Amino acid sequence: MSEEKYLTFALGKGRLANKTLDLCEKIGITCEEIRDKETRKLIFVNEELKLKFFLAKGPDVPTYVEYGAADIGVVGKDTILEEGRRAYEVLDLGFGKCRMCVCGPESARDLLLHHEMIRVATKYPVIAKDYFYNVKHQTVDIIKLNGSVELGPIVGLSDVIVDIVETGSTLKENGLVVLEEICPLSARMIVNQVSMQMESKRINDLIGRLKEVL
Ligand code: PRP
Repeated sequence: MSEEKYLTFALGKGRLANKTLDLCEKIGITCEEIRDKETRKLIFVNEELKLKFFLAKGPDVPTYVEYGAADIGVVGKDTILEEGRRAYEVLDLGFGKCRMCVCGPESARDLLLHHEMIRVATKYPVIAKDYFYNVKHQTVDIIKLNGSVELGPIVGLSDVIVDIVETGSTLKENGLVVLEEICPLSARMIVNQVSMQMESKRINDLIGRLKEVL
């Protein structure tokens, strides 16, 4: 009999990974070592269940899954949309809930209504472009930033931003508001397209057990 293959999970580092591990524990999948904050190890193995886990930067998770370096990934819907990688999105894990929004000063609302040529700062140029070009049919100048995007309208770099809003406190503390909502976001489980066929029993069983505890 051939040996059972390891199923490999790529988890986006940070809060999402911790919540994913909490969820896995509820269905009896444990990996103590990965919780150790001191460790510099990158890959963790549960020999008994034939599972491997690794932590990656969020935007890299869909890449590992598309190429089959990971069978399964857990990452935010924002990253899935932005990266546009090939993978099956199989489950909404329900945590990490937030919204992708167009935000700015209240005074920018008119610029959106009248379809003016505006500047949009964002960490998510693909999502921003799709929204303005294909949904709103508004020509805009998209400026890619790598963080603290709320600075854009404050320092005069852009008219509005496209960014994640969770509690809304970053916007509030910087005098900005949500002007339009693009889509709701949350953590999703994605699966490599070949793994979904080759390991369908194990993966579907896992999805089924996760659904029961969600
Ligand atoms: C995210 C996002 C907003 C903030 C929203 O930034 O880009 O800035 O969180 O959260 P809130 O609505 O609860 O205030 P993150 O903390 O990931 O850092 P970044 O600005 O460097 O991207």
